[in-house]
Amino acid sequence: MYSNFFIHRCKNFLHKMMIKLITLSSIVAVAAIGSGLITYKLHSVPKKPELNLQKWWGIGEKPKEEDTSIKIFNIDFNDTMIHDLKQRLKNHRPFTKSLEGIQSEYGINTKYLDKIITYWLDKYDFKKRAELLNRYSHYKTRIQGLDIHFIRETPKARGLKVLPLLLLHGWPSSSKEFDKIIPMLTSKRNKYNFVFEVIAADLPGFGFSEGTNKPGLNPVQIGIIMRNLMKRLGFDKFYLQAGDWGSQCATHMVTMFPDEILGFHTNMPFSSRPVSAVKMLLGSLAPDVAVDSRYVDRIYPLKKLFSYLLKESGYFHIQATKPDTIGVALSDSPAGLAAYIVEKMGVVSNRDQLNTPHGGIENLHLDDVLDTITIVWTNNCIVTSSRIYAEAFAWPEVNIIHNIPTPVPTAAINFKYEVLYQPDWILRDKFPNLVSSNTLDLGGHFAALQTPQVLVDDIFSATAKFLDFNAKKNR
Ligand SMILES: *[C@@H]1O[C@H](CO)[C@@H](O)[C@H](O)[C@H]1NC(C)=O
Repeated sequence: MYSNFFIHRCKNFLHKMMIKLITLSSIVAVAAIGSGLITYKLHSVPKKPELNLQKWWGIGEKPKEEDTSIKIFNIDFNDTMIHDLKQRLKNHRPFTKSLEGIQSEYGINTKYLDKIITYWLDKYDFKKRAELLNRYSHYKTRIQGLDIHFIRETPKARGLKVLPLLLLHGWPSSSKEFDKIIPMLTSKRNKYNFVFEVIAADLPGFGFSEGTNKPGLNPVQIGIIMRNLMKRLGFDKFYLQAGDWGSQCATHMVTMFPDEILGFHTNMPFSSRPVSAVKMLLGSLAPDVAVDSRYVDRIYPLKKLFSYLLKESGYFHIQATKPDTIGVALSDSPAGLAAYIVEKMGVVSNRDQLNTPHGGIENLHLDDVLDTITIVWTNNCIVTSSRIYAEAFAWPEVNIIHNIPTPVPTAAINFKYEVLYQPDWILRDKFPNLVSSNTLDLGGHFAALQTPQVLVDDIFSATAKFLDFNAKKNR
């Protein structure tokens, strides 16, 4: 009786265990299949979307005959513009005083802004600055209905390989950002048997390039325009260097036209693939494993990064949603425009200087900053340039192209105060042929203005690696 009972108990126990085991293993199996599926889904690469490479962005319908001429262009800060600008600067209402004991924590320090406005009015030499910008050869040509402005500088050195290099800037910049590095790139340097022919273009809606009046001109479409510009100039294959939004456009170009771009150097490298976002999140569980310990604090703790981004990216959210509204105020008041741009350019040049009156802007030369602002003011392009934020998030083609890796050899340089940082193993999700990567303890977002020599050194050494890579590939 007892033994029978015991056997029964045992059977019962075994039965229960079996059920538990089956349940457990089903859970494990489901989890494994699930995470397998997620990993598979994250790593799967979408099909390249079909894109119209000749989309018309000009006013009205595309005409039968297009003007494909390349016209010489001269930068002119004319007297009418200067007079009107100075009137507005003189007549600005008194700025609201910054709070007691506060430097730049609430936004621009208005006492400091007063100094900048006074300099712009009395010291900034409009004519001389325009002359300086005109030391390079400027042109305009019409691409897909928009007048695109660019600088083209051919090297004078003989007996060297000449490599075409397209430079792309971001917001609120223009090709002006490159005026220090252009002569360094076109000059011969020791140990290198090549030199660059530089094309520095203004993105459509930026600088002296025309903006569109049609919705949809996102970074993918801008990339197409820039590639067509290079074709117009006779460059079927070329190298790319870019930062900020220029780097986004360039990232799309190396994805869309991998056979036309021989190498991509970026000072704002970023993989926007979903798998990279998951890796960044997972990395927060073991930051020391995810990132070289020297650079952990550039991403982790994520809480600190997000709080920095939240605090400093209000402008981003506004421009990504309602650029036209803020644009009315900014295009009507040069003092307001200066405040807005100085604050932004300052914090990304040194985010540790938020508690100073200048908020970081003194890492750049004031004349360079005022060139940038004067160009935006003269061309009244704060609205057309700010719309890139809205367009970048409004069109599915952008996300699809983001999720396709590129075979183009890529070089990353990470300056200390750059807004975003990803370690190489994450960058490789998008750029599997990352042939060079340097992380520096100096510099910021506007590298060509702040640390031009360091940037150019890296462009040369990276390009030597691109040449090696392509030679091996073609062997
Ligand atoms: C002066 O420059 C402004 C701004 O670029 C422009 O709108 C205007 O047509 C120019 N005026 C003359 C007389 O060139």
